[in-house]
Amino acid sequence: MSKAVRYYSRSGNTKALAEAIATGAGVTALSVDDRSAVITEPVDTLFIGGGLYAYGIDKKLKSFINTLDSNKVKKAAVFSTSWLSKHALDIVKNELKAKGIEVVEETCYAKNMPGANELKAAVEFGTKF
Ligand SMILES: Cc1cc2nc3c(=O)[nH]c(=O)nc-3n(C[C@H](O)[C@H](O)[C@H](O)COP(=O)(O)O)c2cc1C
Repeated sequence: MSKAVRYYSRSGNTKALAEAIATGAGVTALSVDDRSAVITEPVDTLFIGGGLYAYGIDKKLKSFINTLDSNKVKKAAVFSTSWLSKHALDIVKNELKAKGIEVVEETCYAKNMPGANELKAAVEFGTKF
């Protein structure tokens, strides 16, 4: 089963969560900024997430989601970090669904920088789906 992890992170919180998920998934987490982040080969599960900024997601994450092809991404699992609101989870889910990509209900979230327990849960999240 092939997996990929992509994220957008300004100050490292979501990056830390993405890297823990990637450990569980057995892949390398790539920032959507990375030139090799584009999904060119089919994946069974794309783990994708980002931080919440002024109640929205960064336009780089939005643009990346727009590059996704539902023929290449079988399903997606969403993660996020924020100070308080989990709204980014819904935004990302909805953007993916608008692209025709199936999204699993379960999500992975941490308040700002993930702590040890949240990192452990993120590794476990990466082993699923
Ligand atoms: C410009 C800016 C706007 C933010 N707006 C929100 C917000 O509306 N709601 C919230 O809960 N957190 C907000 N936060 C907190 C971030 O979502 C939180 O620190 C997150 O973990 C940042 O992720 P990152 O380190 O991956 O960039 C904001 C942070 C910044 C810098």
